[in-house]
Amino acid sequence: MAKCTLAFYCDARPATNGTTSQVLSQARDGLVPLQSTKNKGNHWGAAPGMKLALPQEQKEAYMSTKGFSHIGLSTLDLDTTRRFYEGILKFGVVRYDTITVKEGGQIRHIFFDTGRDQLIAFMEARGVPGVPAWYDAGINRGLGVPSSFNHFAFEAGSEAGLVDKRNELRAMGVDVTDVVDHDWAKSIYFQDPNGIQLEYCCLTRDVNADDARMQYRFDTSIRRLNLDTAAMTPTRALMPSRI
Ligand SMILES: [Fe+2]
Repeated sequence: MAKCTLAFYCDARPATNGTTSQVLSQARDGLVPLQSTKNKGNHWGAAPGMKLALPQEQKEAYMSTKGFSHIGLSTLDLDTTRRFYEGILKFGVVRYDTITVKEGGQIRHIFFDTGRDQLIAFMEARGVPGVPAWYDAGINRGLGVPSSFNHFAFEAGSEAGLVDKRNELRAMGVDVTDVVDHDWAKSIYFQDPNGIQLEYCCLTRDVNADDARMQYRFDTSIRRLNLDTAAMTPTRALMPSRI
């Protein structure tokens, strides 16, 4: 799963200090390829060959990190969630538990492999004291924040792979945005049946020292922070009946 720190659309190209060659020259000494434990991509989930600029003192520490084990989420309807993640996104089920709660009720817990042995898990409670029978599992809607604030991005592998994934999802009835160019990465956005904001993303160039330095990049809007909500409605046919 890609770590993505830019959730929203760019209205303008990012500002940079100096020419591209100058920026790359400044960063050259800090460029270090970070391969995953499976040697299938780098620390940021980029395609093999992408590089990440790091200060010397951080290189060793970063090389010791291994990425995600799993992300845990909750759902009101695990069956529909499974149909989406397994049937639409093609994430295989690697573990599925039914857990009895001593105080009452049961929990179903399922883990999907998103690739590279990085998992996404869902927990569904039934009759468990203290757990409401209904809540907004979409996270952002319940919090009242824009759709872009809490989201999960899967690795597309390449720009061609991103386009293929967009077409594949659309063919299966999922409401997906067009490809969004972030300058350093490209993304498509959609929602799962719970209303959880999802993304496929791929890096489009090496990340350098200038990228890592906080600076003004672009303007945005509330509409864009909501990832153009008109195009982000969870596919009705896939939605749990209780949402
Ligand atoms: Fe993102």
